[in-house]
Amino acid sequence: MKRRSEGESDPIVGTAVPRLDAEAKVRGEARYADDLVFSGMVHVKTIRSERPHARVVRLDLSGVGSTPGVVGIATVADIPGENIVPIIYRDMPLLAGGVVRYVGEPLALVAAQTRDAAEEAAARAQVAYEDLPAVFDPRDALAPGAPPIARPDAADEGNAFNHMVIRKGNLAHGFAHADVIVEGEYEVGYQEHAYLEPQGVIAVPEDGGMTVYGTLQCPFYVQNAVANVLGLPLARVRIVQTATGGGFGGKEDVPSHLAALAAVVAWKLRRPAKLVLDRSEDIATTSKRHPGIIRYRTGAKRDGTLTAVEVEFYYNAGAYQTLSSAVLWRGLVHAPGPYRIPNVKVDAYSVATNTVPCGAFRGFGSPQVIFAHESQMDELARRLRMDPLELRARNALRVGDETATGQVLTESVGLAACIAKAREISRWEEVQAEVAAFNRRERFKRRGIGASTVMYGVGMGAKAPLLDKAGAYLKLEADGSVTLAVGTTEMGQGAETVLAQIAADGLGIPVGMVRVAPVDTSRVPDSGPTVASRTTTVQGMAVLDAARRLRLRIEDAVRAILGCPEFTVEGHRFCHPQDPARSSSLAEVARWMWTHNWDMGATGWAEAKPVDWDPATGRGNAYFVYAYACHIALVEVDLLTGETRVTGFWAVHDSGRIVNPATARGQVIGGIAQGIGYALMEDLPSRDGRILAPSFTSYHIPTARDVPTGIAVAFVEAPYSGGPFGAKGLGEVPLMASHAAVANAVSSATGSRLRAYPAIPERVLDLVANGA
Ligand code: MTE
Repeated sequence: MKRRSEGESDPIVGTAVPRLDAEAKVRGEARYADDLVFSGMVHVKTIRSERPHARVVRLDLSGVGSTPGVVGIATVADIPGENIVPIIYRDMPLLAGGVVRYVGEPLALVAAQTRDAAEEAAARAQVAYEDLPAVFDPRDALAPGAPPIARPDAADEGNAFNHMVIRKGNLAHGFAHADVIVEGEYEVGYQEHAYLEPQGVIAVPEDGGMTVYGTLQCPFYVQNAVANVLGLPLARVRIVQTATGGGFGGKEDVPSHLAALAAVVAWKLRRPAKLVLDRSEDIATTSKRHPGIIRYRTGAKRDGTLTAVEVEFYYNAGAYQTLSSAVLWRGLVHAPGPYRIPNVKVDAYSVATNTVPCGAFRGFGSPQVIFAHESQMDELARRLRMDPLELRARNALRVGDETATGQVLTESVGLAACIAKAREISRWEEVQAEVAAFNRRERFKRRGIGASTVMYGVGMGAKAPLLDKAGAYLKLEADGSVTLAVGTTEMGQGAETVLAQIAADGLGIPVGMVRVAPVDTSRVPDSGPTVASRTTTVQGMAVLDAARRLRLRIEDAVRAILGCPEFTVEGHRFCHPQDPARSSSLAEVARWMWTHNWDMGATGWAEAKPVDWDPATGRGNAYFVYAYACHIALVEVDLLTGETRVTGFWAVHDSGRIVNPATARGQVIGGIAQGIGYALMEDLPSRDGRILAPSFTSYHIPTARDVPTGIAVAFVEAPYSGGPFGAKGLGEVPLMASHAAVANAVSSATGSRLRAYPAIPERVLDLVANGA
């Protein structure tokens, strides 16, 4: 067997390989969904409900059909298969039949030669409604006498789509033994994904089936939805991901609905059908982060040891289940935080209302509860007169500890190291002294510093272990280059580069030799969704599996070529151990394999380590491994205007082995920016179920000016034995940790606890007025 020898290029995993997709994107050569044009293509516009809850008495599309440029119309009657978009439940129709349940729900479709004509035609739809009583707030939806919104077969009880619990220890005992108890209610609104590229798909009838090209995260979900509405076998539906300008969870389930809409039109007209949302339609009608109402009670001993946590939270799911049960479950498991707590009670509810269905968003149900549990930790620290980082460190989960769900952590727990490192790189004590001095000096400004710690269950966890798998296919070309096909997607997070690095390192070849093919459901087995920060870990293991299989075959070929049982590797040449003059490059080996009719392809497969869960008690091994982080934010509040600026940020992560430090750093800084937006500015008001101003004119996301320069990012790498080269997930964690650190910093600066996001100037002025 060969060994890496002196002179061979360094391992690729762990190095800052430039992103493979960067050049095409920067040059404008990458082709996004709306760039694709097919011969005979029509443009589709969705006719949507104007009412939050109503019976559709009449749907008059005569004006739509007679609009110049219109090619066709599709209604429920044109759906050849089932009028259901299957997600976790089967409660959401593709096109609303008799009853609409939210403003923006699809009713019918119009196809025209141009997008303008389709829009003009859609506006001519005449819909007569008979309004039904509607509710928009989860509290109202659960009140006695609330109108039924959830379908009974998709709900635990009434409008409670789901009620989930954790029960651990004895709560009364835990609070009885607490020296200090803090309590609070917290509230958060929507957060919009604000991906650069809006949603878009093109359905193309092909080979007796349907191919859909689109901007999407989860091609196999889309395949399932399109097959369901067209009544086709899965093998007749092919999904190809186009270059994707961001997803952040917003392209997890929504593309299933949009692709199925476009597919119905394409099927009926036998023409390619493009459906691209403009920004306002996208913001108004597609999923967003669940608004939530969250109540916490936390007890601790005088030395800071946590004794009990009680949580009750309600997420506004919207009119259909979509992903809410999974979002709620992640929120449930993450609600107690990354701490050792002997007594825990959590009750989590996702509630149906007549609002746009909420769904996946980076963090997936955890950021809302993290805001609350990290606020509680700071509140406790204040009451105990204890350093907030010290309080967190004392309670931080370590190897051998039991989580709130009773899972014993056996490896890879870098939380305490993250806290220590964050303390060090932020110069925690010195900065606090500087902040105090600033606050004494300044009349109209206040600074505050805040910390947060989080844990993140990597992968689908025990809610959906059947999805935690991945396939990969590696093809050695006759010239020694390699094509890699995977089933998980690049959406900006750097997965393509990371997976190519894993393949290259597994094969022992330069990363430049690897090309990652566009994701296409016909190329690889169902690899689960690109969510839950699972790509590096689960997809990475499948790539490594394929690479190892192919490498063994390459090594057999080398032995046959060199005529010796052993060989060495010098640089990228395979050498005869006794006669270094006899050597072959990978290209020569590949050529040899090709001429000798060897199989030059290898498939790889991975499935996550087992997990388990008892829904009655909320006990079990919820996730196969966890990532951890500690963030520290420094803010400056203008006491006269209420404006808040984040002026410093330190982020330390344990995501196991870091495959690419540059893309990892990019993920952390991007997540911090998104967290700053969530905590400080992203506000999407709605009235009677209608998003009021669906545009970036009124929905403010952070710009470069809102993100501090010089963000310090560090990694402590606690390797995970089940991940490729020891890697765990990272993608979502930076967003999860960042907003809570900012919120705590705002509370510290104003001297009053922030209990609702976002901390817009009006809210901050209230805090200032209430503050000490
Ligand atoms: N980063 C960018 N630039 N764009 C994205 O859409 N999505 C986030 C995160 N980082 C996203 C991103 C979400 S929601 C997830 S689940 C992870 O990336 C997925 O990537 P991973 O599985 O490669 O960690």
